[in-house]
Amino acid sequence: MSNAIIFKRQKAEIGILGTGSMGARLAAMFARAGRSVALGSRSPDRALAIAHDLALPGLVGGSYEEALEAEAVLPAIFIRDGLFDILERNAAALDGKLLIDISNPYNEDYSDFILPWDTSGAEELQKRLPRTRVVGAFKNVFSAVFDNPLFLGTPSDVFLLGDDDGAKQEFLRLAEGTPFRYLDAGPLINARAIERMTMITGALGRRLGSYPRMNWRLLG
Ligand SMILES: NC(=O)c1ccc[n+]([C@@H]2O[C@H](COP(=O)([O-])OP(=O)(O)OC[C@H]3O[C@@H](n4cnc5c(N)ncnc54)[C@H](OP(=O)(O)O)[C@@H]3O)[C@@H](O)[C@H]2O)c1
Repeated sequence: MSNAIIFKRQKAEIGILGTGSMGARLAAMFARAGRSVALGSRSPDRALAIAHDLALPGLVGGSYEEALEAEAVLPAIFIRDGLFDILERNAAALDGKLLIDISNPYNEDYSDFILPWDTSGAEELQKRLPRTRVVGAFKNVFSAVFDNPLFLGTPSDVFLLGDDDGAKQEFLRLAEGTPFRYLDAGPLINARAIERMTMITGALGRRLGSYPRMNWRLLG
């Protein structure tokens, strides 16, 4: 037996697909909280450059395939841009894993949703990936909030959705140290309300002059 040292590449705790408004910010947030994060892009050079510029320990950039190797996966891609197809093509890589769904099913001009009222992005993903454990999170958080997450020193709420309590606990462990309060908002079916609520948040934010940096905090 050779005495050569075998280097085993460590799996990231979270793999993020997509380097847009949400993907890059969530990658930075989780890395700042101490998680190991693989940020994936259709153009791996873009993800590498973002990781290089952020220079956070634990954050690496690469391809979707590399990000899909992580223990938990967070796709930051619009449904209208092919989220379902991308994930279905990679169903084997997602088998048994925690999938953190942040999707809101907006159409191109944000005037309506592309899914009917009797379903949600989260439920559609769970239907298409029955062997993957889907939770919904961050759906209610507009991307600008991540740049400056505290409101007068107070964290705002992330509504957590899911049918699998173990998956929710796993998500909460990954979210430890991030600047939000996480509220269990019930089963995946409640994603229908949370996803659509973002239309109201956006409209209110515009009317009150806070758009795009506003979020909910349940008082009581
Ligand atoms: N923006 C918000 O405030 C907000 C808030 C809550 C939830 N969300 C949800 O988060 C998800 C991402 O939103 P976002 O605002 O981050 O979107 P975005 O800025 O448009 O970024 C989406 C990323 O998806 C990837 N992508 C893969 N296939 C694509 C295609 N065919 N066309 C365009 N992009 C494609 C791209 O990353 P690569 O090129 O690197 O692969 C792109 O940068 C959506 O499901 C949205 O509903 C957004």
